[in-house]
Amino acid sequence: RTGARVERLPLSRFTTLGVGGEAEVWFVESHEQLAEAMEQPYRILGGGSNLVIADEGVPERVIRLSGPLAERDLTPDPALSDDTWVVTGWVGGGVPLPGLIRQLQKLGLSGLEGTVGIPAQVGGAVWMNAGTRYGEMFDGLHTLEIVTPEGTRQVTPDDLNWGYRDSGIPRNHIVTRVRLRLRRAAPEDVLAKMDFADQARKGQPKMKTPGCAFKNPGGVSAGKLIDEAGLKGSRVGNALIAPEHANFIVNLGGASAADVHALLALIRDRVPVPMELEYELWP
Ligand code: FAD
Ligand code: EPU
Repeated sequence: RTGARVERLPLSRFTTLGVGGEAEVWFVESHEQLAEAMEQPYRILGGGSNLVIADEGVPERVIRLSGPLAERDLTPDPALSDDTWVVTGWVGGGVPLPGLIRQLQKLGLSGLEGTVGIPAQVGGAVWMNAGTRYGEMFDGLHTLEIVTPEGTRQVTPDDLNWGYRDSGIPRNHIVTRVRLRLRRAAPEDVLAKMDFADQARKGQPKMKTPGCAFKNPGGVSAGKLIDEAGLKGSRVGNALIAPEHANFIVNLGGASAADVHALLALIRDRVPVPMELEYELWP
């Protein structure tokens, strides 16, 4: 009807962990196609970099923002920009974050470089306010467009109750696009900050993974707690608690979601401090 491309596909193809069974994937390129996709139960998939998806897949429609919803307009808005600050045009929720960060650096626009190395899409990164100790997504947001089955609304960060790894936006409210508010800076200075933030990743594993498993409880490194519990190198099936950093579970090749779940249960059992899961488990 609205012409959205719909295909039954293995979700493992869309996740950085490389795990996940089949679902009906809706590639939506417009608000009309999105509205049609949302007529039945759905999930929204971004870069798949924080997901552990069941080997059976999921029964809901899986929406992927594509086409114009994965494009960016970084032209400064003359009415809202000056010698210090730039407010951009719309950046689609489906835009890959790493490429955007490199592009902003070249343009001399500072504010989001602390998120370097996060393999997310803009919408997913905004939805969970992804970040590092050098910066997070909400450092650079001006306006967010959010779509639900009830309609489309625009909000500013002040309208949301956001915090560490949390935008305050309810699940399945889709961040279709955002406008950025960034500070003008010398490209080489932005690059230096990016390189500095990237140093913190030296100790992270290079294998297939959905990033950190747990949020840091009360500012303490969850990785350190899991390490102190002696769990580095624990293996179930083809999933492994990374020897490099204990808050990362990696896929050695052919891991199942059940393997990862078993390691998460082991961690919860052995670490004395309660920790909140950072990953999302589908379904
Ligand atoms: P997905 O994994 O696809 O989805 C995650 C959640 O976001 C789901 O609930 C999904 O429904 C929702 N979502 C996706 N798109 C949208 C949208 N458009 N609107 C609304 N909701 C949406 N995270 C950090 O915070 N800091 C790090 O330093 C970091 N480092 C990482 C390093 C590696 C190697 C990897 C693999 C991951 C890392 N992560 C890090 C985790 C991950 O990148 C973030 O959690 C990121 O925000 C997930 O975004 P995504 O687009 O991949 O979302
Ligand atoms: N540590 C250990 N053993 C480990 C892991 C860490 O002793 O196995 C120690 C380190 O030696 C260091 C301290 O714990 O002294 C902190 O470690 P690190 O610098 O790696 O930071 P982190 O708090 O574990 C956080 C984020 C990462 C982000 C890095 C760098 C969370 C849950 N994790 O890790 O984000 O990339 O800082 O900024 O907030 C993610 O959220 O998915 C993620 C990867």
